[in-house]
Amino acid sequence: MIKIRIPATTANMGPGFDSFGMALKFYNEIWIEEIKQGIQVIQEGKPSEIPLEDNLIYTSLVKILNKYGYDYHGFKIEVKECNIPISRGLGSSAACIVAGITAANALMGNVLSTDDIIREAVEIEGHPDNIVPAVIGGMVVSLMDEDKVIYSKVNIPNDLRMFVMIPNFKLSTEEARHVLPPNYSNGDCIFNISRAAMFVNAMNNGELDKLRVSTQDRIHQNYRINLISDAEKIFEGAREYGSLAEFISGSGSTLMALVDKNNKGFEKKMTSFLNKLQDKWEVHLLEADVEGTTIL
Ligand code: HSE
Repeated sequence: MIKIRIPATTANMGPGFDSFGMALKFYNEIWIEEIKQGIQVIQEGKPSEIPLEDNLIYTSLVKILNKYGYDYHGFKIEVKECNIPISRGLGSSAACIVAGITAANALMGNVLSTDDIIREAVEIEGHPDNIVPAVIGGMVVSLMDEDKVIYSKVNIPNDLRMFVMIPNFKLSTEEARHVLPPNYSNGDCIFNISRAAMFVNAMNNGELDKLRVSTQDRIHQNYRINLISDAEKIFEGAREYGSLAEFISGSGSTLMALVDKNNKGFEKKMTSFLNKLQDKWEVHLLEADVEGTTIL
């Protein structure tokens, strides 16, 4: 039996579209066992209703086993804990892919390196921003150099907390990518390059006062904000209660506020603000996960 814990991830983080990501202390736990025959998928105690071909844990697991020539008969895949909600911009698909590949690697006797796991996972997911922090933890800048994934860790200031606001409505990444323009102006490119670079440097130096300006973005958030009801209002509320910066988590629908841990009243005030809105918002004040995927 292989027991795997995978963190949620927030991607983009404002200006770092398809590049920045951070793992959060908010986890799925998946148990995978090789059995004599058949495939059983158990989701929190009950047989899963998701067709097997759409189950990213299963498809990623068998893709890797087939690729590396591992002979198998059957599997029992048990989703023991499923905290990361689907289609909310918290890396649920990355978590499934990484779980499947990590299990395959364990079954094969750990023949894959961390970089192999990342490369295989990014090939399935299509972009590295959730995958890399899900595998190695922390905040990571990632890029594709042709088919190679290059990544570098960013320091996370000790006092920084992530206030995660998850609505009860989904937003598919496909839909949220569809609203993006095919081209950007020179001005928008300069705007984002300067802020993305500043954000990384501010994080590394612990310059919390620069997070607000450096999380501004003109590549994706303007186009997506209207897909998330009350997002503008929520960002304004967070600012009023003293958050350091706000952004859409991944492609949404989750929203994120970066908060100084010494801002004691924030969680209570923001929770009561969100409770007055029409949609239901679940909130978590989280620290960054620095371990990434672990075999328990
Ligand atoms: N960088 C991706 C996007 C994250 O914003 O579309 C979604 O997984």
